[in-house]
Amino acid sequence: MTFYSPGMTWLLTGGAGYIGPHIVRSFLGAGKQVVVLDNLSNGFADNVADGVTLIEADLADADAVRSTISDHHVSGVVHLAALKAAGESVEQPLRYYRQNVMGMLVLLEQVVDAKVRNVVFSSSAATYGETRVEYLNEETPTVPSNPYGETKLIGEWMLRDVQRAASIDFVALRYFNVAGAGDPALGDRSVNNLIPMVFRALTNGESPQVFGADYDTEDGSCIRDYIHVADLADAHLAAAARLERLEPDERLAATYNVGRGQGATVFQVMEAVREVSDIDFEPAVVARRLGDPARVVADPSNIERELGWTAHRDLHDMVTTAWDSWLVRHPEMRPEMRRH
Ligand code: WQD
Repeated sequence: MTFYSPGMTWLLTGGAGYIGPHIVRSFLGAGKQVVVLDNLSNGFADNVADGVTLIEADLADADAVRSTISDHHVSGVVHLAALKAAGESVEQPLRYYRQNVMGMLVLLEQVVDAKVRNVVFSSSAATYGETRVEYLNEETPTVPSNPYGETKLIGEWMLRDVQRAASIDFVALRYFNVAGAGDPALGDRSVNNLIPMVFRALTNGESPQVFGADYDTEDGSCIRDYIHVADLADAHLAAAARLERLEPDERLAATYNVGRGQGATVFQVMEAVREVSDIDFEPAVVARRLGDPARVVADPSNIERELGWTAHRDLHDMVTTAWDSWLVRHPEMRPEMRRH
């Protein structure tokens, strides 16, 4: 049974991108009201579910943020709006500081002014940087190795300081490697990460590239903890529910790793793509990419224990749903089309 809580509307900043629409589905499915604010720089209006209001605005527009909070009786915010390409952040640090840190500043000023109490923050495993820890827990030292990761860590510090000084409570979620699609229409359209980059290479008739095969891992390629975007969306619902259950005098400042707690190598991802796409290909091993740790795998025991959340989907589910979504935009890659 879903309980309708009048007036408990969640504002999703950046909710028209890749992860946001999955969170909208998860929240609507739980009977929650949502409103989306997005500048559509990386998002798409057609990603926003029917019946959900989309406010097209940038977080820099404090008036738009303020009026969205008041017009929609917002009582909680899921803050996703940010630039997220780690490599790009090295070339354009100030753009990342403006968008990610200034954006958080403007949002928190309006949240505190409007006495909104609950914030769920999209943070990242990029806050850990080039770690050598086998399973990262939330006490693992955070030493980001690029401005993107730094802006996410600064966002966590801002939330911690405002929570201490004002009346907000928050849950920060450190995403590991997000992949897959909850619906073929909702795949990741920004080709910034491994799985869509492999798809793009295959679509262009090129060999997918392995950035280094001389790491100290089982097959020499890097290991990452891939998490299905639909499971990730449910982690936000669990965080929102935890915040909504707080007693008036109860306070919360929590940060959780969101991953499956198991890794997959780049070669294993390539094998999964071969199986799912039925395309036989040999990847090209090229030079390492600067800043890539050999292994980034979560210890998700805290979120499992404290929020009762765990991932249910595996790597095959992620590659299958990502490929089905890719085929929507690249029908020439369908098996029946490729045979010609
Ligand atoms: C994954 C692995 C590459 C492409 C990113 C960012 C950030 C964060 C987590 C949200 C690495 C290898 C990649 C290719 C390859 N997300 N690779 N060939 O770097 O682990 O982290 O996701 O906060 O977006 O920090 O993700 O998908 O770029 O790379 O061999 O063509 O695949 O070396 O080992 P990454 P990624």
